[in-house]
Amino acid sequence: MATAKREKFGSRIAVIFAMAGSAIGLGNLWRFPYLAGEQGGAAFVIIYIAATIFISLPVFMSEVIIGRRSRCNAGDAMIKLAPEKKFWRYVKYLPVIIPIIIASYYSVIGGWSMDFFFRSCAMQFTKADPASVASVFGELVSSPWRPLVMHLVFLLVSTLIVVGGVKSGIEKFSKWSLPLLFVLVVVISIYSICLPGASAGVEYLLKPDFSSVTPSTFAYAMGQSFYSMSLGMGTIITYGSYVSKKDNIMSDGVATAGFDLFFALIAGLAVMPAVFAAGIEPGSGPGLIFQSIPYVFAKMGETMPVLSAVVAILFFLTVVVAAMTSLISLIEVGVAFLMEKFALSRIKSCCIVFLICGVIGAFCAVDGTVLDVLDWSASNILLILMAFLVVIFVGFVMKKEDVKAEITNNGELPTPVKLFPVYYFLLRWIAPIAIVLIFVSNFIL
Ligand code: PHE
Repeated sequence: MATAKREKFGSRIAVIFAMAGSAIGLGNLWRFPYLAGEQGGAAFVIIYIAATIFISLPVFMSEVIIGRRSRCNAGDAMIKLAPEKKFWRYVKYLPVIIPIIIASYYSVIGGWSMDFFFRSCAMQFTKADPASVASVFGELVSSPWRPLVMHLVFLLVSTLIVVGGVKSGIEKFSKWSLPLLFVLVVVISIYSICLPGASAGVEYLLKPDFSSVTPSTFAYAMGQSFYSMSLGMGTIITYGSYVSKKDNIMSDGVATAGFDLFFALIAGLAVMPAVFAAGIEPGSGPGLIFQSIPYVFAKMGETMPVLSAVVAILFFLTVVVAAMTSLISLIEVGVAFLMEKFALSRIKSCCIVFLICGVIGAFCAVDGTVLDVLDWSASNILLILMAFLVVIFVGFVMKKEDVKAEITNNGELPTPVKLFPVYYFLLRWIAPIAIVLIFVSNFIL
């Protein structure tokens, strides 16, 4: 395995930007705002923050540990760290297969957002009759060629970034795209909050309502936090393998979680107030981004056409860029694996991943049921299973001294030294139990 000339991120900031870029995506834009609103507003946000700190953060740090210590792709990392343990051979490809599946349909959704970005540039929503605009999405997904072409173009552009490599591709792209995303979403949220009637949306998102909190709220919060932090998919293991030995894994985790949460909240403030101002019911998933939001722009277009057009363009640009920074992290998992496993060049590995995701995604592009099935099984079963394996591996298979050495950089980092027992306890006892509960709740709640 090519350890000597393995690529690395150039700086700490680059690591955080790349990881936060992976974390910030459609999960923040179309699931968080809805879940938060439906599951008790600020009450949900508190539970979500607790789930992130006590469960996702230890899982995240464990993935970085596996990557950084093995300096290896996600498929071989655990075997490299524990070669004598046979069990891990059976599951080793899971962290490569899961991201390939997710990348395939994620790229289809990225393609839809690109299509909507082009439509916004042509002022299609601004000029449309609000009553008819929701049908645009239906027309798009039922078109025999459009979603397919958009998916392939979106995947191609994302793959080309990965062709550039860790430093000149992923790092460079994340360095400008992440700040751009924050600027865009803040601008849109200010605009959205200032619309007449917007306060109902802010209230929906943030007013604490403990009566909507049920046992399933906890499962939703944990599941969403995992998905949003890109856990259980080999991406953080892979990015972790490019992290320098001098980096502070704990603070990388805290920074990524912080950016991710901040973005989710601001995205909620960009989306929900506008939806309420337009007088429609909030929803989640494709319906929110591709039906409700265009309606908002069409309504605004009746009185303020220029502003509506500008905000529509900025909004869909945000969706496109957020989806792309996540997609490149998924593609990189497969690429790193092929490069190391089969000693292929980066470009050849990228071509192979492009072909595989292109084909699987093509099925999703023409048949929404395939997309839904892949999404459901990847996010509710596979990634939770993988996160469980990660926790067991770092908590029970790796030696405690090794884990401690990674977290504290051999005792050099004072805060991680102090907090190590807390991390280790959460990792071994709280995280596995919580993960099993989320898993079971998917079937019974
Ligand atoms: N975290 C991303 C989101 O919130 C999804 C994702 C999962 C991206 C796994 C990469 C890897 O949309």
